[in-house]
Amino acid sequence: MTESKGRQRIFSGIQPTGEPHLGNYLGAIRQWVQQQNAPAPHDALYSIVDYHALTIEMEPGSLDRFTLDLTASLLACGLDPERITLFRQSDVPEHTELGWIFSCVAAMGDLHRMTQFKDKADQNKDNVNVGLFAYPVLQSADILLYKANLVPVGDDQVQHLELARECARRFNRRFGETFPEPQPLLSTVPRLKGLDGSAKMSKSKGNTVSLSEAPEQIRAKLKVAVTDPARLRRNDPGHPEVCNVFTLHGCFTGPANPARVAAIEADCRSAALGCVDCKKELADRIVEQLGPIRDRQAAWRARPDDLRDLLEKGRRKAAEIARATMEEVRVRIGVRAPPNSR
Ligand code: TRP
Repeated sequence: MTESKGRQRIFSGIQPTGEPHLGNYLGAIRQWVQQQNAPAPHDALYSIVDYHALTIEMEPGSLDRFTLDLTASLLACGLDPERITLFRQSDVPEHTELGWIFSCVAAMGDLHRMTQFKDKADQNKDNVNVGLFAYPVLQSADILLYKANLVPVGDDQVQHLELARECARRFNRRFGETFPEPQPLLSTVPRLKGLDGSAKMSKSKGNTVSLSEAPEQIRAKLKVAVTDPARLRRNDPGHPEVCNVFTLHGCFTGPANPARVAAIEADCRSAALGCVDCKKELADRIVEQLGPIRDRQAAWRARPDDLRDLLEKGRRKAAEIARATMEEVRVRIGVRAPPNSR
């Protein structure tokens, strides 16, 4: 795959840390699929970043299975390996190679400011490894290895993208113009809270719905989901702007029926619509939309050999670009002589 002139290139990554959930789906995957299906899609690479997942302790031997499961989920959500490149990070060793070079370019001070590192170091006090600290350096390598211009991410990744731009600038200044400065393609989905009302959806907290969840489970979880905390009684007026269930209606009801979302908003404020019914309706929409994904996911998971074949095809496409970039980089940094002088 050669970079056709003027065409933008997208790169994004997703960690194989277990069953993808609503947060991953709305914050990333659904956008990737929309971009792929747009009238003039960009050239896009999506990577299952297993070496990033290694920064958090998990059961040995689980990463391969998680990667295959995630591949199945991404296909089930509509990613089409014929139109985009889908591959596993560890299948393309140039990621870690460029990661090392960038670790000789990036500044300690910049890494010390990363809020995600501070959060994760707090959560994993017994395993604050160097990889957790250098995580954004590897992420910069992921992106710049493909000279990507656009990176679809949520706002929690903006700081990491700044580092990628800084790596590009520092490298270019020191070794000559090589990398573009990638820009974030910010997700239009508003920040989602956990169903329990906590700051973030996460599988480990059990406050979200996974893509493989059965309809009864989805309904049960929605039933107890936290809404507007100020709305104690059925007749209290609601405040949709602070209600996570309303935000989710925007994601699941909005695209097909924006008028219904407007009506829900008005009826919540006037207390004509109660939380119980509002949540039931949301559960219906989620079940409706996740049902087919769940079925396709199960079908793909039953075909591990085909999943491996698809990842291998993706590897070949990604490796071609990665090899060319690294040949250029080795000459730029001077560990190899330029081809014409050999
Ligand atoms: N850090 C990203 C996340 O946690 C995952 C990621 C790794 C990524 N490499 C990337 C995202 C490169 C965009 C581009 O969501």
